[in-house]
Amino acid sequence: MLSQTVMPIHPQVQAFLSAPRQLLINNQWLDAADGETFETRDPSNGAVLARCARGKLEDVDRAVRAARVAFEGAWRKVTPAERAKLLWRLADLIEAHADQLAQLEALDNGKSYTNARHGDVIWSADHFRYYAGWPTKIEGATIPVSVPNQLNYTLREPLGVCGLITPWNFPLEIAAWKLAPALACGNCVILKPAEQAPLSALYLGQLILEAGFPEGVVNIVTGFGDEAGVALVNHPEVDKISFTGSTAVARSIIAASAGNIKRLSLELGGKSPCIIFSDADVERAAQQAALGLFGNSGQSCVAAARIYAERSVYEEVLERVTEIAQRLTLGAGMAEPQPDIGPLISERQLGRVLGYVQSGIAEGAQVCTGGGRALEGALAQGYFMRPTVFTRTKPEMAIVREEIFGPVAIVEPFDSLEAVIQAANDSPYGLAASIWTRDLSKAHQAAAALKAGTVWVNTYSMFDPASPFGGYKQSGYGREMGAAAIELYTQLKSVWIGL
Ligand code: NAI
Ligand code: MG
Repeated sequence: MLSQTVMPIHPQVQAFLSAPRQLLINNQWLDAADGETFETRDPSNGAVLARCARGKLEDVDRAVRAARVAFEGAWRKVTPAERAKLLWRLADLIEAHADQLAQLEALDNGKSYTNARHGDVIWSADHFRYYAGWPTKIEGATIPVSVPNQLNYTLREPLGVCGLITPWNFPLEIAAWKLAPALACGNCVILKPAEQAPLSALYLGQLILEAGFPEGVVNIVTGFGDEAGVALVNHPEVDKISFTGSTAVARSIIAASAGNIKRLSLELGGKSPCIIFSDADVERAAQQAALGLFGNSGQSCVAAARIYAERSVYEEVLERVTEIAQRLTLGAGMAEPQPDIGPLISERQLGRVLGYVQSGIAEGAQVCTGGGRALEGALAQGYFMRPTVFTRTKPEMAIVREEIFGPVAIVEPFDSLEAVIQAANDSPYGLAASIWTRDLSKAHQAAAALKAGTVWVNTYSMFDPASPFGGYKQSGYGREMGAAAIELYTQLKSVWIGL
């Protein structure tokens, strides 16, 4: 789609973009200590959207100290019921500002306004509402110890100061995944949004102030990974880091955590298999696989990156996925009519994805459609990638093994349940997997055999704040969402009373 028409920008978004965006520290908006800033851009045309404070060591330190004071003081005095109300109020505010947040997400990340409005933003509000139910239900236990004349019970207590480091692919939503449980459990936080798309988190900061969180409970430090991110990860007063991003950065966070034995939860990359058996509703399966892969322009940790179709339906699946890839419309997040998919987040990401495509071609894989950058008309100004479908790949190729994080599908045939499980599990990653079949027994066998944190059967990309999400193998550890996330943000104290 070459549409140049864009929807009108909300006056509040306009105002938000026109002022320099500062750091939120101790409920005050501040410049970076050294006054430095960085630009965030609209990936559909490369235009500068806003200038943000470039937080570094000194700023992170200020934020951590504010969080520590709040944790030892005011935040402790807030009752669980009051914490619940704050979270619920924040959810209401997110919904009241849904248009503004969705526009910021569309501009800063490039995803369509429609997807952001009805997906990311609403899911973020739902997340805060789900965790608003938790503060009044986080309980310890009385333990039936066998030592005479002793009473033993546990208290489930917050960890303290948590650093939350988020990526750019679902900027608001992943911030919500971390903020909501961390705050529900009574922690204080420093959120470090991704430098490529920090604006929705900063707008959320305004709503956090409006909701009435006490000083220092939520701090937001924008900046680069190797400056603000590293400072947070190395800080001796940070008790926990929750990180979503690349496996490479996770390794450096694990190393840095040794300093003060930080708690970590890590949600990393994936190379999720999507297995389509011949007895499935093949039409629907192929369609869902394609959407599961191309959605968010493939910049999703659960993208259906490896599609395996049983040999008798392989041609049909390949054709269908190729057709969908060709039909998808490309455009800016604010374009009218709304496109199916947007640009990649940055020139660097486009370069990475094109590099993978080139390597696939060089190694002899067959390109069924796409294979390059989209350059027609206005698209040439942005980082648009043509949806690409590969087949005739080999298991050892980089395009099969590594996370591409772009709209690049791989479709391959398989001959048996055993063979496809083996192929599916032949990966350093284990975030998600999907199976399409009408055979109940096959579905359960495959679900049990797949090494993945989430398995979808006859459905794709289902999420709910109540259902745990996280990775096997190098896709990370810890489970976000649901009751599992309460464990990520609390620690147990065992109390003995001599009677
Ligand atoms: P990244 O892992 O560098 O960035 C994620 C976050 O970590 C950002 O906030 C960044 O500022 C921060 N960060 C970077 N280096 C850091 C460090 N040394 N210490 C502390 N924080 C640091 O990911 P990037 O470069 O944006 O994307 C590269 C690849 O990572 C993608 O192509 C994709 O394969 C993967 N990725 C996976 C995501 C997922 O959802 N699991 C999300 C984003 C990226
Ligand atoms: Mg941006």
